[in-house]
Amino acid sequence: MWTIRHYQPTDRAAVRRLAGDTAHFGDPIERFLDAREVFLDAFASFYTDVMGNYLWIAEEDGALLGYLMGCPDTIDYNEWFRANVKKVAWRVVTLRYRGVFTRKSLGYIWRYWQVRIPYIDLSPYPAHLHINTRADKRGSGSGTALMKTYLDQLRNENVPGVHLETSSANTIAAPWYERLGFQLLQRTPSDLYITSVGHSVDFLLYGMRL
Ligand SMILES: CC(C)(COP(=O)(O)OP(=O)(O)OC[C@H]1O[C@@H](n2cnc3c(N)ncnc32)[C@H](O)[C@@H]1OP(=O)(O)O)[C@@H](O)C(=O)NCCC(=O)NCCS
Repeated sequence: MWTIRHYQPTDRAAVRRLAGDTAHFGDPIERFLDAREVFLDAFASFYTDVMGNYLWIAEEDGALLGYLMGCPDTIDYNEWFRANVKKVAWRVVTLRYRGVFTRKSLGYIWRYWQVRIPYIDLSPYPAHLHINTRADKRGSGSGTALMKTYLDQLRNENVPGVHLETSSANTIAAPWYERLGFQLLQRTPSDLYITSVGHSVDFLLYGMRL
């Protein structure tokens, strides 16, 4: 049986592995990007290195089953991202990463910079989250327990609301968020994953008042 606990720095490698293994709608990131480390440094390191208190782990027999990466105030993330992305870009141009200059990666990076970022009014929904569990352990209840733990944490801290982004290709996650009480705030068609999925998907922005 799994247990839920706070993240520890010793979980860092396992969390990054799972984040890479689930980045394509629950499948490995290599479906759309050959440069896994770029993605992890540009995005996941905020949660492992800065927001550890809002990173929750599902664990069974000492092995990582899943995680929920959260942040109570998305303004903090946006500020971090703006500063951090420059460091990652510098490492890209100084050839510190593998897998950047492949047709797949360059195509994705090109489409990424053209994406329309959905606008969200952060005042009612300042917090956000990302959640993933291991493919062979989905449906065992750990995702629901991770979500409950984080939502309770936010409520205890009087955070007024939380949002998350998913897509119409996350066919299990999107209806699950709705069953949990998240409301669809915005639906935006996008070609970001057109080569890996084979067609446009809709980005779905969900919010919940706490
Ligand atoms: C979405 C996700 C995090 C849920 O975690 P989990 O450990 O499966 O969570 P639970 O076991 O509590 O199940 C959550 C819900 O998904 C349903 N579910 C999980 N796996 C399923 C499967 N293979 N088929 C159908 N439903 C499934 C469960 O029935 C449950 O719904 P319910 O609570 O209404 O009964 C996990 O399925 C996952 O990582 N999916 C792939 C990646 C993804 O979509 N992540 C979210 C990105 S925004």
